Amino acid sequence: MAFPRQRMRRLRQHESMRRLVRETSLSPDDFIYPLFVTVGQNQQIPISSMPGQFRWSIDLLVKEAFEAHQLGILAIMLFGIPDRKDARGTSAYDPDGIVQQAVRTLKSQVPDLLVITDVCIDEYTDHGHCGIVKDGRILNDETLECLRSMARTHAEAGVDMVAPSDMMDGRVGAIRDELDQAGFPDLPIMAYAAKYASSLYAPFREAADSSPAFGDRRTYQMDPANVREAIREVELDVEEGADIVMVKPALPYLDVIAQSRSHVSVPIAAYQVSGEYSMIKAASQKGWIDESSVMLETLLSIKRAGADLILTYFAKDAAQALNSYRT
Ligand code: PBG
Repeated sequence: MAFPRQRMRRLRQHESMRRLVRETSLSPDDFIYPLFVTVGQNQQIPISSMPGQFRWSIDLLVKEAFEAHQLGILAIMLFGIPDRKDARGTSAYDPDGIVQQAVRTLKSQVPDLLVITDVCIDEYTDHGHCGIVKDGRILNDETLECLRSMARTHAEAGVDMVAPSDMMDGRVGAIRDELDQAGFPDLPIMAYAAKYASSLYAPFREAADSSPAFGDRRTYQMDPANVREAIREVELDVEEGADIVMVKPALPYLDVIAQSRSHVSVPIAAYQVSGEYSMIKAASQKGWIDESSVMLETLLSIKRAGADLILTYFAKDAAQALNSYRT
């Protein structure tokens, strides 16, 4: 049966009809809001390449997290900006480090908000790499020791989930063992499973002051040309004990999200990264696109591709837009 019996436009004529047959919808429940925490008091330092995003001191971070929670956001993801860096990233696993302190404060002041932490030493190393460096090489197994300690100190501070983003082999299994041995068998792991060596992380590296001092991240992050390899990464992380797997970046990698969705049954998260955020912000500041509608369209597309959760710097704006759309 074809035209004129079939008319695809019949169900598109009214907003209510379109909503009735809509296949995908967004909700504030879908979002995880990434936040940068830094030392000091009363600090809200703008990140110039990410308009609307800040480095927060813990006192103001709590206010921002509370506001997000009021809008219906269920979880935040924390990135730490420490006051000292060294070759082994030791401030990353200091029990009184910036993230450990922030977790403790957040859990006591906004207890119902889920706090997730990024587990990776690049913000804490003076060379900016995600692993221990020797003779210009990034050492895999030695780095696992740092990641174990980092995850354990986050657990001891009361975090709700840890998210390793370093792309060392075997880190999910190592962190799972460490957490189990330390008495945290119920603490979930969200693994950055298919994390690509993307140029879209540039604004984040300004925000976190974590650009590698030499070379690049291509010996550990994935080649943007590959998708079968991503499925192997995803399957390995699930085997090692990941409870949620992540694809990152999001919009240029919708095929990776969709294929991951069809290969594993764990929840899939996608990270709309700093560069994706900043491109939308910049074009809208120039008046070339409408920020709010492009924001919602990109988030909807990420969900449609198969993501259950979306990490996005737009979390608050999107929640606000969705809340007003519903009422
Ligand atoms: C590593 C990490 C990075 C991002 C999240 N975790 C940076 C990198 O791999 O260089 C990027 C996130 C973004 O661009 O928004 N700790």
